[in-house]
Amino acid sequence: MAIAYLNGTWQAIEDAKIPILDRGFMFGDGVYEVIPVYDGKAFLLAEHIQRLSLSLAEIKIINPMDDAQWAELVLRAVEKSMETNAIVYIQVTRGVATKREHVWPEGISPTILITVTAAPGLARVYADTTVKPYTMITMEDFRWQRGHIKTTSLLAAGLIKNAATAQGVDDAILIRAGLVTESSSSNVFIVINGVFVTPPKSCLILHGITRDLVLMLAHKSDIAVEERDIEEAELYAASEVMVTSSGRELWPVGFINERAVGDGMCGPVWKMLDASFQVYKEAQ
Ligand code: PDD
Repeated sequence: MAIAYLNGTWQAIEDAKIPILDRGFMFGDGVYEVIPVYDGKAFLLAEHIQRLSLSLAEIKIINPMDDAQWAELVLRAVEKSMETNAIVYIQVTRGVATKREHVWPEGISPTILITVTAAPGLARVYADTTVKPYTMITMEDFRWQRGHIKTTSLLAAGLIKNAATAQGVDDAILIRAGLVTESSSSNVFIVINGVFVTPPKSCLILHGITRDLVLMLAHKSDIAVEERDIEEAELYAASEVMVTSSGRELWPVGFINERAVGDGMCGPVWKMLDASFQVYKEAQ
């Protein structure tokens, strides 16, 4: 059952209301996290809570809770929802002001929202044959230069994703100054000359929790890994391209700008890493 926690009150998701002077509504002044729940357990919860703290610090919101309190609240939300495979969404905004003004008032208390909604599709299993590689286009990365902050201001991501779906593809791979950054809501990896490559952490990309896990799994499988800039042209020379996110895990990309990546199917490195991912997930 979908459930919401809003500033200390548990309620049905459709009943939760935010005042219009909440700076999250007026300015997109807030940050968020998306945490997958597998078999009733919040996956990589500590990592998500740590990134939430970093995002809050970057936008100068004093963290309203410590890590243990966050963890307890998330676990309680999952328990109350009674869902087994679900998505936890945490949003913290700067809070409700008394008037619309760019400068935030002193002493404002953050708005805390946690929702849990069912996501049956998350229960993927090893060697899932239903995985259909994405089709993608490339697009200029016109987003702001604070991509490491997981802000609720997602207008650019929405514009990009809608432009992609309007062209009949799944998403866009973003290019800034000739280099790959990420996708609208996932990190990008390529396999080129047998090396598994992803752009380095910077303020131009979100430091994905799934990205870190997949890099760790690649190291463990003795796959050669490089965190370095990727030229747009390398997307077409790569034998495999894939994306990672909390909602999609590790997903192959079969076509970019109508050109097949490899044979357009799930490649061997993806298969190996996806298998490791599923094993890791089940062991949690
Ligand atoms: N998106 N890059 C961007 C821009 C993202 O929005 C996301 C996640 C990622 C992957 O991060 P992680 O592995 O920590 O989920 C990379 C989430 C899932 C979303 O907005 O729904």
